[in-house]
Amino acid sequence: MTQPASASLGDTILAHADELARFSDMEGGLTCAYLTPAHRAAQDLLAQWMAAAGMQVRIDAIGNVIGRYAADPAAGDARVLMTGSHFDTVRNGGRYDGRLGILLPIAVIGALNQAGIRLPYHVDVVAFAEEEGLRFKTSFLASSVLAGRFDPALLERQDTDGVTLREALAVSGLPGAGDLQALRAAALDPASLLGFVEVHIEQGPVLLHHGLPLGVVTQIAGSSRFSVRVEGLASHAGTTPMGMRRDAAAGAAEMILLVEQRCAAAPTLVGTVGQLQVPDGSSNVIPAACTFSMDIRAGEDGIREAAIADIVAGIAQIAARRGLTAQVERVPPVNNAPCARWLMDQFGAVLKKRGLQAFELPSGAGHDAMMMQRVTDVAMLFVRCGNGGISHNPLETITADDAQLAAEVFVDFLRHFQPRG
Ligand code: GLV
Ligand code: MN
Ligand code: MN
Repeated sequence: MTQPASASLGDTILAHADELARFSDMEGGLTCAYLTPAHRAAQDLLAQWMAAAGMQVRIDAIGNVIGRYAADPAAGDARVLMTGSHFDTVRNGGRYDGRLGILLPIAVIGALNQAGIRLPYHVDVVAFAEEEGLRFKTSFLASSVLAGRFDPALLERQDTDGVTLREALAVSGLPGAGDLQALRAAALDPASLLGFVEVHIEQGPVLLHHGLPLGVVTQIAGSSRFSVRVEGLASHAGTTPMGMRRDAAAGAAEMILLVEQRCAAAPTLVGTVGQLQVPDGSSNVIPAACTFSMDIRAGEDGIREAAIADIVAGIAQIAARRGLTAQVERVPPVNNAPCARWLMDQFGAVLKKRGLQAFELPSGAGHDAMMMQRVTDVAMLFVRCGNGGISHNPLETITADDAQLAAEVFVDFLRHFQPRG
């Protein structure tokens, strides 16, 4: 621990977020992609902090760091309340997205341990190795392993350097080195779980707008991600008449505008093209190919699926009209995940006991809790995001006071936690 023993939990959490953010794949900002040297360094430091807080630590086959704060032995053969979030980041991201949900429980467990307080159940703090999908364009890779939902086809997925996930795991030093059996064996036994709770920065302006430090999440919006490859014909930029072109980039531009237009047509529906490339492009050659990502989300699965059907059909029409081909590859979707009322109410009761409003709000962002919800009941505690609620941006921020309050609420939650009857 780098903070003096007298530092508040909030100060410690923020200081640890700063310290962890020193490990980055880029200069002058925070990027922590899966299985890079920075990612490895962050993983090691998290393991050290968990051990220092009194946990038994292990690293699983996908790189999750899991610390166990063992139950009071008098409780007999105890089940596990799991908590945690991810430590990978988007490119040039913020230092609290995901990491708050690891650092806060570590600080809280450290405080309980110092006070000699044991709980009648195990608490497992998990630092998920990969959630953002930056390197391999996956969705919830690390939590899918714990939830027993790992898709073996992902092992062949390549990063932008052509390295497959299988190859990256083989040299990672992780247990099993990418062996499918090891990845399957890392799945949790759902019967051992009491539930999963995730603390996360809100990543939006709602709590800030309402003047509230904390909120309880009702549900997490489902999401679908796609990779689209449009192909046309390379030809000379100076000699090919406008009416004779099969320009893949111009076709992709029309497709992107379709995504924007269709996703503006329903509340909670959102569509984003965050990656766009003209592979091997030259300024004086009509693009033969153009690739882009699509991320489509909504608070209701039916609304999302209807939009996807329209967009996929629209892409085919645009391609046909322009003499192009378009291949749309879909990453398995993650459906809308409701939070469990019995867990939400336990957070709500703690907030009310402290004189705070038990404010409830949905999450538009995706979280590891969505994948964990496939195997156990989940709940999330949101912490107010400063700077207008900006996230996936280095301007993302929280205050030490809000982190302190969230930590105190989390302590109360753990100490009063009642398993589902
Ligand atoms: C995760 O940050 C997501 O919502 O994409
Ligand atoms: Mn994120
Ligand atoms: Mn996150």
